[in-house]
Amino acid sequence: MELDPQTLGTRDMYEWMITTIIPRPIAWVSTISPDGVTNLAPFSFFQGVCARPPTLLFCPANDRRGNPKDTLRNIRETQEFVVNLVSSAQVEAMDATSAALSYGESEFSRFGVDPVPSRRVRPPRVSGSPVAFECELDRIIDVGEGPVAGNIVLGRILRFHVDDAVLGSDGKPDPERLGLVGRLGRDEYAELGSRFRLSRPQ
Ligand SMILES: Cc1cc2nc3c(=O)[nH]c(=O)nc-3n(C[C@H](O)[C@H](O)[C@H](O)COP(=O)(O)O)c2cc1C
Repeated sequence: MELDPQTLGTRDMYEWMITTIIPRPIAWVSTISPDGVTNLAPFSFFQGVCARPPTLLFCPANDRRGNPKDTLRNIRETQEFVVNLVSSAQVEAMDATSAALSYGESEFSRFGVDPVPSRRVRPPRVSGSPVAFECELDRIIDVGEGPVAGNIVLGRILRFHVDDAVLGSDGKPDPERLGLVGRLGRDEYAELGSRFRLSRPQ
């Protein structure tokens, strides 16, 4: 079949995208307001960008009324965030923090997620996350405008935390020990499946 985005409603287009672009890694993003209230929310439109300068991106869409989500609002105001990666032991807490709480209420305290102080930025990281990237805002690229329009947040990685327990014998993260979950479409998630090797051409 072929689909023409011009003939699809926004919701349909979204469904087709999230059921085909899979599995998606999850950025569990912690931020802080200028008043010092923490915020935590998951985003699966998330990727690395480049190693020099060390950069990643994630994409908080506007809400259905066209307003920025709390995460984006905080980043615009404070220029800092932490991307925490999500292990299978954390999926339920991660899912809970996707609730739309009012601005000024912290998902950390509401859902009992333990914060750990960061080293280079004010937002805390998430206790128990196997990996966390402390970031400062590089730039925000608006994509479209109004309800559910996109925003690409590019972050410069200032500090990179990796739980020693996930390291393999080569000193790098072992995928099995990392135990990260990926987001699929619908309400589905995936754990790591079978692995295989394929070397790059010279
Ligand atoms: C696994 C998962 C992935 C999500 N990915 C995104 C995403 O990529 N972009 C987005 O705008 N919302 C995404 N959401 C929804 C946000 O987490 C949700 O709107 C949240 O309330 C935003 O919180 P905030 O207002 O505190 O920033 C996702 C939710 C879940 C559970």
